[in-house]
Amino acid sequence: MNKIPDKIYKNEPVKLVNNHVNPVKFFSVFSVIRFIQEQQIMTKKLNVGVVGLGRLGNLYARYFLGQISNANLVAVSDILEPVAEAFANDHNIDKCYRDYHDLVNDKDVDAVVIVTPTSLHKEVSIAAMEAGKPVFCEKPLSTLMEDSLAVKEVVERTGAFFHLGFMRRFDKGYAAAKRKIADGVIGTPIVFKSTSRDPFRPSLEYLDPQHSGGLLTDCGIHDMDLARWLVGEVASIYSIGDVLAYPEMKPVGDVDNAIATLTFESGALGVIDVSRSGIYGYDIKTEILGTKGTLQVGYLRETPLFVLTREGVTHDTVPYFMERFGQSYVDQLQNFVDHVRQDQSPAITCDDGIAALRISLAATQSLHEGRPVTV
Ligand SMILES: NC(=O)c1ccc[n+]([C@@H]2O[C@H](COP(=O)([O-])OP(=O)(O)OC[C@H]3O[C@@H](n4cnc5c(N)ncnc54)[C@H](O)[C@@H]3O)[C@@H](O)[C@H]2O)c1
Repeated sequence: MNKIPDKIYKNEPVKLVNNHVNPVKFFSVFSVIRFIQEQQIMTKKLNVGVVGLGRLGNLYARYFLGQISNANLVAVSDILEPVAEAFANDHNIDKCYRDYHDLVNDKDVDAVVIVTPTSLHKEVSIAAMEAGKPVFCEKPLSTLMEDSLAVKEVVERTGAFFHLGFMRRFDKGYAAAKRKIADGVIGTPIVFKSTSRDPFRPSLEYLDPQHSGGLLTDCGIHDMDLARWLVGEVASIYSIGDVLAYPEMKPVGDVDNAIATLTFESGALGVIDVSRSGIYGYDIKTEILGTKGTLQVGYLRETPLFVLTREGVTHDTVPYFMERFGQSYVDQLQNFVDHVRQDQSPAITCDDGIAALRISLAATQSLHEGRPVTV
C-alpha cells in the first residue's frame, strides 16, 4: 500500500449517532460521503517540490508551472543558492532552499521530484520517503547497487510511493512498440539493437563516474531498461569501449564510446552502442527483430523538411534530449501526479531501477575486465 500524505487523503471515520441504522440508508449515506471524499481527493492539486535545478531539473520545474495538470510547483532546492533563488524569483515560487532537507520536510510540499546528480538520488529519496512524501526520482536509481537496495528497503518499510524516471517508456514510438510486441505483431523478439548518441559531451564534472556512474550507466541505462522492457531479462553482457573523441575525458576515468553485446535469458541477442560524440545530433533509435517482422523506433530529422538543391539533399537533426523527449518527460510527470493523487501504484518501480542498474553495472564491469559478465 502506498503511503500518502495525510493532509490530502485523510479519511475521517464516519460517526454514527443512531444505533438503529437502516442498512440500506447507511450504505447509501456512506457511499455519498465516500464519493464526496473521493471528489475532494481528485480536486486537491498536488503540491510539488523539485530538488536539483540543473539541465533537467530546470526543465522539470518549468513543466510544473503550466504543463502538468493538477499539480503546483511550491518549492525548489539547489545546493547552488543563486540558482535556486533565481528560479524562485523568476517564477514567483515562495519557497527556495539550499538544503534539500528543508524542502522534503516542508509541510506544504506533498511530493518530491529528484533531479540531482545520480550519486545523490539515494540520500534525497530516502529523506523524502522518511518524511512521508511520494517520490519521483530521475534515472539511474543510483551509481551503486548497495545504495539502490537501501532505497528499496525504505520503499518497502515505509510503503512510500516511488516512481523511477525512465521517460522513453512514455515516448509514443517506444510505447507503440511495446504494444505491437504484446500483440504478437513481430512474433518472438530475437534481436535487440539500440543506439544512444549524445551530440556532445556534458561537463567533465558531470562525467565523473563517481557522480554519473559512467557512460554505460548514465547513458546506457535507458537502453538496458528498454532491453528488459521490450524483450525480457538479460542473462549476460560483454562490453568494449574507449576514449576516442575527447582526450580530455581520460583523466576523468570514463569512456566516450562503448558497445555492449547482450544475451537474453530467452536466448535472444542484443547490441547497444552508446556515444558522447554523435556530433551530427541527438540520435536515439532502437530496432527489435522478431520471428515475424521488425520494429524500428526513433527518428533523426527534427523538422519535417528536406532541402533539395544542386549541392544535394539536406535536413536538420534532433538537437538534444529536451527536444526529443520533451513530451515524454511531461507525460511521465503527469503519470506520476495522477497515480499519486489516485492512490495507484507507480508505473515504473524501484525494482525496475534496480534491474536496469544491475545490467549497467555488469556492462561496466565487463568493460573494465575485458570479459563477458553474468548479470
Ligand atoms: N532522462 C534523461 O533524459 C536525463 C537527461 C539528463 C539528465 N538526467 C538525469 O538527471 C539527473 C540530473 O542531471 P542534470 O543533467 O540535470 O545534472 P546537472 O549537473 O545539470 O544538474 C544537477 C543539479 O543538482 C544540483 N545539486 C547538486 N547537489 C545538490 C544538493 N545536495 N541539493 C540540491 N541540489 C543539488 C546542482 O547544483 C545542479 O544544479 C541525473 O541523475 C541524470 O542522470 C536524465
